[in-house]
Amino acid sequence: MRYKKETAHFLTSMTRTLEKEILERPDVAEHLVARAYRDLTRIHRFLGDTASVIAALRRDPLPVRRVLDVGCAAGGVLLEIRRKLGVQAIGVDIKPPKTPDLPFAIVSADAVRDPLPEADVAFSMYLGHHLPESDLVGLIRNVGQFCRRFILLDLVRHALPLALFRGFVAPFVCPIVVSDAQVSIRRSYTAPEMARLTREALAGSGARFRHTVAPLYVRQILDINYAPRPHSCPREPVDCQQDAVQ
Ligand SMILES: C[S@@+](CC[C@H](N)C(=O)[O-])C[C@H]1O[C@@H](n2cnc3c(N)ncnc32)[C@H](O)[C@@H]1O
Repeated sequence: MRYKKETAHFLTSMTRTLEKEILERPDVAEHLVARAYRDLTRIHRFLGDTASVIAALRRDPLPVRRVLDVGCAAGGVLLEIRRKLGVQAIGVDIKPPKTPDLPFAIVSADAVRDPLPEADVAFSMYLGHHLPESDLVGLIRNVGQFCRRFILLDLVRHALPLALFRGFVAPFVCPIVVSDAQVSIRRSYTAPEMARLTREALAGSGARFRHTVAPLYVRQILDINYAPRPHSCPREPVDCQQDAVQ
C-alpha cells in the first residue's frame, strides 16, 4: 500500500520546469527548424493527436467552415486537417515561418494579446506549455473573442509520457525534437493544473468545457464552447481573406 502511494507520488510529482526549448532560440538554422517541425507533424499523426482534433471537428453540431490553428509553426498539421475536412484554414504564430509554401495564410500575432482572425473553431497543439499560467488564462480568453469553440491539445507533465517518448519516439526523430520534447513534457501542466486554469479563465463567462486526458497521459484536450457573443464584436478581428502567406 505504502509502495503504491510512493510510486504514484513519484509519477506525478515532477516540478514544472521553466527551461527554454532549442526551437525558441533565434539563431537555429532554418533547415533544422523545418526538419524539427516536420518531425513534430509526424509525431502528432503517430500519437493520434491530429486524428483527435479531426474527430472533434467532425463532431461539431454546427457548420465548421473556417478553422484557425493557434501557434501553427510551419502549418503541417493544419495542412492535413484542411485536406481531410475541406475547410478554410488559417494559421497564427508569434514567429511565423520564414519561407512558407502553403495554400493558406499564416498571420503573425501574439495569440495571448493580439486580435486574431475570426474562425468557427480554433485549435492549438503543444502551445499551452510555452505559456506561463497568466498567459494561458489570457490565451483562453482571447481566443473566445474570435472563435465560438477552442480545442486546446497539449502534453501532460508526467513520468509516463516522458519514459514512452524516450523509448519509442526519440530513436526516430531529429536531435532538436529529442531534446525539446523532453523539456516540453517537463514544462507542461498537469491535468489538475490545466483544469484549474481553465476554470479561472472562463469563470462567469457562461462558457462550457470538457477536459479529457488520453491513456498513458500522452495528451490532454480541453474542448471549450464559449457562450454566444453579443452582436457588437468587442474587438476588431484581423482581416485575412487572402490565400497568400503574410
Ligand atoms: C512547440 S511549437 C508547436 C507547433 C505546432 N502547433 C505543432 O504542434 O506542430 C509552439 C508554437 O507556438 C508558437 N507560439 C508560442 N507562443 C505564442 C503566442 N503567444 N502566440 C502565438 N504563437 C505562439 C511558437 O512560435 C511555436 O511555433
